[in-house]
Amino acid sequence: MSNKLATQAAVIGAGSIGVAFAIVFARAKWIVRMYDPDTERRERVPEEIIGRLRELDNFGLLSEPVDALMGRIEIVATLEQAAAGANLIQECAPERVELKEVLFAELDAIAPVDAILASASSALTTSSFVGNLSGQHRCLVAHPGNPPYLIPVIELVPAPFTSLDVVERALSLYQDCGLKPIVVKKELEGFVFNRLQGALLREAYCLVRDGVATVDEIDTVVRDGLGLRWSVIGPFETVDLNTRGGIASHALKMGPAYERMGAERGQHDPWTPALVEKVAAARRAVLPIEQWDERVVWRDQNLMALIRNRNKADFG
Ligand SMILES: NC(=O)c1ccc[n+]([C@@H]2O[C@H](COP(=O)([O-])OP(=O)(O)OC[C@H]3O[C@@H](n4cnc5c(N)ncnc54)[C@H](O)[C@@H]3O)[C@@H](O)[C@H]2O)c1
Repeated sequence: MSNKLATQAAVIGAGSIGVAFAIVFARAKWIVRMYDPDTERRERVPEEIIGRLRELDNFGLLSEPVDALMGRIEIVATLEQAAAGANLIQECAPERVELKEVLFAELDAIAPVDAILASASSALTTSSFVGNLSGQHRCLVAHPGNPPYLIPVIELVPAPFTSLDVVERALSLYQDCGLKPIVVKKELEGFVFNRLQGALLREAYCLVRDGVATVDEIDTVVRDGLGLRWSVIGPFETVDLNTRGGIASHALKMGPAYERMGAERGQHDPWTPALVEKVAAARRAVLPIEQWDERVVWRDQNLMALIRNRNKADFG
C-alpha cells in the first residue's frame, strides 16, 4: 500500500467555479476544504455538490459512489481552516481586483510556506492583484473552463515573478487531477481562452448589428459547423486538414481574403510569410505531410463517433 499523503486543496469561494473545482479535486482523491464568507452559501453548497455528482453518476462519469466523493469535501467557516495543510489553494472569489488583492495578502500570510496560491481569474492577471507580497513567487492564475469537471483545459498564467518551480508543480498537480493545463507565456488580459472566444464574439456581434445573420443563425453556424469540428481538432489543424498541401497552402489561398475581412473591421494583422512559416513548421512537426490523408480519415472517423453520440443523446 502506498504511504503517499493525499494531496490537499483549499477552495476559496464556493460559487459556480469553486463548487466545480471541489468536484475535480475530490474525483482525484484529494482532500478538499472549501471556504465561503457567506453563511447561507456554505449551508446550500453540499446539496448543490451532491446534485452535480449525481448528474455525473447518471452519465457513468464517476468511478466512485457519490458518498465517497462527498466524504473528501469539507465546508469550513474560516480562511485559516481552509488553508491549513493545503498543497494547492484555488481562489474562486468574484472577479474584482481589490477583493483578490486583499484575499491574496491574507492567504500569503496564513498558507503553508510551500502551498501554491492559484487564482481562477478569467481576465485579471496575477501582477494586477498580487503586488509585492513576500510570497509573490508562489502566485499564479489557473483559469479553468466552466465547469472544469467537464471542460478539462486550464490556463496557467504565471507573472514574471512566479518561480519556475511553482509553475512546474502547478502543472503536475493539475495534470494529476485530470485537467489539461497549458502555460501561457506572457501575462495579458483574457489570456488565450477568452481572447479566442472574444475574437469570435466580436465578429458575431458585428454580424448581428449589421443584419447579416440572426443570433440563432450564428449559434447554428458554430454549433453545427465550426464548433462541431473544433470538438475534435483546433482551428490550426482544421485549416491544415481542409486544404491539400496543408496550412501553408491554405494561407496562400485564403490569407488575402482573411486580411481584407480584418481590415474591414479596422484590424491589420496580416499573416506574414515568416508567421505562416512558423505555424506551418509547428504543424509539420506534429503531422508530416505524408500522413495528411490518414489524418483526414481519422478526423472524419472522430466526427462520425461524435455524431453517433449526439444523435443518441436525449437531453429532453
Ligand atoms: N463563471 C465562469 O464561467 C468562470 C469561468 C472561469 C473562471 N471564472 C472566474 O472564477 C472566479 C469565481 O467566479 P464564479 O463564476 O464562481 O463566481 P460566483 O459569483 O458564482 O462565486 C463567487 C463566490 O465567492 C464568494 N466570495 C465573495 N467574497 C469572497 C471572499 N472575500 N473570499 C472568498 N469568497 C468570497 C461568494 O460568496 C460566492 O459564493 C472569478 O474570478 C471568475 O472570473 C469564472
